[in-house]
Amino acid sequence: MIMEKGFWRAQGKRMLLASVFAVGQACTASEDPHIAQNNYWHYCSSCHGREGKGDGMMVTDMPVRPNDHTDATIMSSRSDELLFKIISEGGAANGFDEGMPPHKTMLKKEEIEGLVKHIRKLCNCKYAG
Ligand code: HEC
Repeated sequence: MIMEKGFWRAQGKRMLLASVFAVGQACTASEDPHIAQNNYWHYCSSCHGREGKGDGMMVTDMPVRPNDHTDATIMSSRSDELLFKIISEGGAANGFDEGMPPHKTMLKKEEIEGLVKHIRKLCNCKYAG
């Protein structure tokens, strides 16, 4: 009986720790610039280039090449919501080229939010309205 109590107490603590950790992770994926940069390198750089200049190794045979994410003139004409939607649903669903694939099945919402912030850092710009 005593052992059983101890067991459940330990389980309870473990579950509490696990949920605190999960919430912590959800925050960091959208807030932590290193996670966003790693995701950009991992999921986006093959086309967009590691620095976001649109010079990834896959673009040579693409009919529509990605814009330069460091170009403040272009990127300030896109709202954060539009960037989120393009990353999530892909280009074709948002009036852009289908060469931009959807990422909603491979990235969490928080990770996509992190990527929008990363792009804002690359262009050093905000939505101009
Ligand atoms: C297979 C190649 C490919 C991959 C991988 C890819 N993209 Fe793209 N992306 C494109 C192309 C091509 C376009 C240009 C579409 C257009 O201009 O019509 C584009 C356009 C975009 C745009 C719109 C830019 C603008 O001009 O407003 C955003 C934002 C974007 N991509 C973000 C990302 C992010 C973030 C990732 C990684 C999660 C990613 N892309 C992965 C090919 C890719």
